[in-house]
Formats: sequence, structure tokens, C-alpha cells
Amino acid sequence: VSLATYNTFRFDYHAEYFAIAETLDSLKVLLRWAKHFNQPVTMIGGGSNLLISASIPGLVIINRLAGMSAREQVGNLVSLTVAAGENWHEVVKYVVNEGWFGIENLALIPGTVGAAPVQNIGAYGVEVKDVIARVQVIDKCTGDVYWINARDCGFAYRDSHFKGKWKDTLLITSVELSLKKQAELLLSYGGLSDRIQGEPSLADVFQAVCDVRNEKLPDPNVLANSGSFFKNPIVSTSQRNTLKEHFPNLVSFPFEDGYKLAAGWLIDQAGWKGKQHQGVGVYEKQALVLVNYSESKADALLALEDNIKHSVYALYGVELEREPVQLPVRASKKDVFLET
Ligand code: EPU
Repeated sequence: VSLATYNTFRFDYHAEYFAIAETLDSLKVLLRWAKHFNQPVTMIGGGSNLLISASIPGLVIINRLAGMSAREQVGNLVSLTVAAGENWHEVVKYVVNEGWFGIENLALIPGTVGAAPVQNIGAYGVEVKDVIARVQVIDKCTGDVYWINARDCGFAYRDSHFKGKWKDTLLITSVELSLKKQAELLLSYGGLSDRIQGEPSLADVFQAVCDVRNEKLPDPNVLANSGSFFKNPIVSTSQRNTLKEHFPNLVSFPFEDGYKLAAGWLIDQAGWKGKQHQGVGVYEKQALVLVNYSESKADALLALEDNIKHSVYALYGVELEREPVQLPVRASKKDVFLET
């Protein structure tokens, strides 16, 4: 089966075996099948944060687990449990419509609910970890289903254990969000407050976020891409200060003990914005987004990635790290060792 319609870069690689899971029970059956035939399992949600760069061995399961249930708690809290296959933006729309606060800044992020914790999606000063209470998982090998509390998920900037130490063992089946019936709106992130006048409502902020994103980011249904292709690099205060001396316009934000640099600025100033090569390129309105105009394979994109990384390193001495998850998962050194 071609995976071209299951990843937003639209790369045309194949899955050796392919299935769509709509219920937890069917997912369990699929995992038992894979175990019986000793096939590796890869799960895909919306495919909007993926870089597929070769055909995927074993079984690929598209997560379409559906359903949502809300429980109003005493006081200000609402707990919303959403199955992993639901569309993230549809959930944000529903939540804003109900008048619940917490994820309005995360509007229009492509992909599914189950993918949100994997890379700890974030935008306009909010990260999904801020509202996740717990995550339900299934163990690929045993089929056990259980909940993991948010504080144990290793959430960090665009990172979690789901893309780290748990990536070979656990799949996400459901997410419980903790929302509020009343809360402050977060408008401090650049570009958001400028668009809003007076006392904005929850719906105003939702709309403002949709507007900025529509202006700056390409719609993956129109132009193939997977959002930010690199993470914003985190550097020490002294490295940032030295850079700032050489590049007074450098865009950076205090982050933990050091600074987060705007990778979009670094790439833009290195002259890459709007550049096209073969069938791929750097988006003309946001240099952090790489786009695919016409390629069916990932080679040209991987070459572009390499060139950008080298050029940014040569200019600023900063290493860029890729943001989307690469598939197929490469065998670790340990696996290779065990096989030989
Ligand atoms: N900038 C440039 N040139 C560019 C792009 C950006 O100079 O071509 C400068 C801008 O002037 C701005 C700064 O870089 O001052 C930051 O840009 P922007 O606000 O567009 O955000 P970002 O840091 O590039 C991050 C997230 C986005 C998220 C936005 C808004 C990462 C890797 N990306 O981008 O998330 O939507 O902030 O909160 O952290 C994603 O992860 O896929 C994603 C789109």
C-alpha cells in the first residue's frame, strides 16, 4: 500500500502490511497478528509530523480510534478524554465552542490527538503538556492498556518519551486533557496581541491564532509540508551573547538557563527563504518550513536539509536538529549487534 496520502510531505513509499484501526479491540487484534508473525509495528496518525524516507517494513497501522467524553469537575475544571485518532483542530474547535480554556492557542495544528503528546505540540506560548492530565497507551508486545500521568511522560520542548525511550514499545490510544471553565488568555507571544483589540474573548483568540497561521504557514492540503522542519536551537547565554554581538538583529528568547534562537531567523538570514531546488524548497513566508512541490521520494529534501544544516553551522556555529519523526525507525546499534 502506498503511504503517499498518509503523510503530509506526500512521499510515496510503501507499507509492507497496512491496516486502519477504528477501535481499541481491532487494534489489539492487529498487535496480536504482528506479534504472531514477528512483524514490527509502526503507527501513523495524521502523518503531519513525519518524514518517511524509505518503505516501512512490517505492519503500518493508521490510528482512527474515535470518541470523546467530557466530565465537568467541581470548581473550574473540565476533564476531556479524547481517542487518539480524532483530529486535533476539530477538538480545539469543539472545546472553544463549549467555552473551555486551555488549547485555543493550539488551533489549526494539523494532525491527530494521539500525535500531540509525542512531540508535545506547541504554539503561541502554550504547549500541550500544559493541559495533558494523562495519556492512555497500549503495549505493542503484551497488548496491555494503561494510563501514564503527564509528569512521567518526559515532556520537554517538542519532545517526550513517546518519541524517545518508549517509541518501540508503546502506542497512544487516548489522551485526557484538563481544561478550565475560566482562565486568563495568553496573548504575550509576538504577533498575537497586535491582532486583537480591547478585551478579547476565547473565540477571538482562537480566530487570531487561525489567522496568523493561515498567513505564515502553508496548508498541507495545498502545499506538502510537515510544519517546522527544525527545532529552535537552545544555546547558552554566553553563546547567545557572542552571536548577538556579530548579529545584532538575532531573534532569541530566554529559555531555562540559556536562550532559544529562532531557527527561522537563522535560516532566513543565511539566504534560504523561498529557495527552490529540484522539487523541494524553503517556504517563502516562513524559513523554518520545508515544502515539497513535486517529489515522490525524500532524497531531494534530505539533501536540502543537509545543505541548510551545514550553512547555518558555518555561519553561526549552531547545530540544527530536525523536528519531524523519521520513518522507518532505523535499527539501533544494539539491534544490529544482536542480529549479527
Ligand atoms: N523569523 C524570521 N524569518 C523567517 C521565520 C521566522 O526572521 O523566515 C523570525 C520571526 O521574525 C520571529 C521569529 O523568527 O520573530 C519566530 O518565528 P515564528 O513566530 O514564526 O515562530 P517559530 O519560532 O519559527 C515556533 C514553532 C511553530 C509555532 C510558532 C508559533 C518550533 C520548532 N516551531 O515557530 O510550530 O507555530 O513558534 O508559536 O518551535 C511546528 O512545530 O511545526 C510549528 C509550526
